[in-house]
Amino acid sequence: MFVRNVWYVVGFEKDFEAPFVARRILGEPVLMYRSLAGRYVALKDECPHRLVPLSLGERVGDCIQCGYHGMCFSSDGACTSIPGQDKIPEAARVDTYPLVERHGIIWIWMGNRDLAAPELIPDLHWNSSDRWAASRGYHHFDCNYTLMNDNLLDLSHETYVHKSTIGTREEEPIANFTPKVTMGGDCVVRAHREMRGIEAPPFFATMIGHDCIINRWQSAIHLVPSINLTVLGIHPVEEDRATARVAHVLHLLTPETESSTHYFWAVVRNFRIDDADLTEELRVGNSRTFDEDRGIVEAQQRRIMETGQTVPRVATVQDQSPIRARRMLQNRLKQEHDDPAYTVLPPPLVPEHSFAVLEEFMA
Ligand code: FES
Ligand SMILES: [Fe+2]
Repeated sequence: MFVRNVWYVVGFEKDFEAPFVARRILGEPVLMYRSLAGRYVALKDECPHRLVPLSLGERVGDCIQCGYHGMCFSSDGACTSIPGQDKIPEAARVDTYPLVERHGIIWIWMGNRDLAAPELIPDLHWNSSDRWAASRGYHHFDCNYTLMNDNLLDLSHETYVHKSTIGTREEEPIANFTPKVTMGGDCVVRAHREMRGIEAPPFFATMIGHDCIINRWQSAIHLVPSINLTVLGIHPVEEDRATARVAHVLHLLTPETESSTHYFWAVVRNFRIDDADLTEELRVGNSRTFDEDRGIVEAQQRRIMETGQTVPRVATVQDQSPIRARRMLQNRLKQEHDDPAYTVLPPPLVPEHSFAVLEEFMA
């Protein structure tokens, strides 16, 4: 089913300016908010009286008032008042979950709460660094999250799915540039490819400011079970690699149910970081790009549900990294099943081969 002893993303800081946020996470309804003192709080979104979602009610100070008969619950899940009676029954409690902020991203822990150590949150510091500019968004996909992992690890689909944005021309498909696949321990898979002397796809021409021939590299990095990072660099062929425009696309997937996924994303870049128009352009452009993925993976999901088949039915050379990621996921699920206290400290996600370039901008 799902890996539980891991932090999952539930939104960005800005989402928590609302009185509360309600989402289904790993199949469970959760209501979340930032308390008046700035603490992050997550409660089960279910009134213990008659099971009505508390999110149909109201936030009153740091409490949530059920919208049916007005019982109130504080941020630790305790019932603080019941209209018409003084005595509060023992069972009038709501479950809570650990919820924390790290690098401007809000993370929830749905597993054994004694194991919820903040050190287990992967390092995505680019999202809140003042050396990087971020364009952020959210998509909801009606598919199992592993189909998105597959999609983000095999980027050869860009040529066909993303013709109008980030895909190369069909005459020079991304698949022609064989990725080098490496593993980081038993929880990270990386697929890196270099594409030299190619025509800049439309989106990248915008980033550079004009049409040109570019060198491009692209690393798809996956952390089990559902964090993905695309590290990309581009520069006109006549310019030095150290001057490359570098962007990291954070694809932060959280299973909503077995057949639907929350897709929080951020594109962070190290160039023209004060250019608000570019930030907005990248937000709109990426949003359109991910809409294109949605059409594909949702159609895949429907077919899988109709027929009960698994993917890939036939594997190509491009499936090397998605297949390894699926194997790692199966191992992780088994380890957690055999040892309910099993956790893994995530290693740094950016691959060594990018450091030479990234160092310049991150120092
Ligand atoms: S269902 Fe919530 S108070 Fe009755
Ligand atoms: Fe895509």
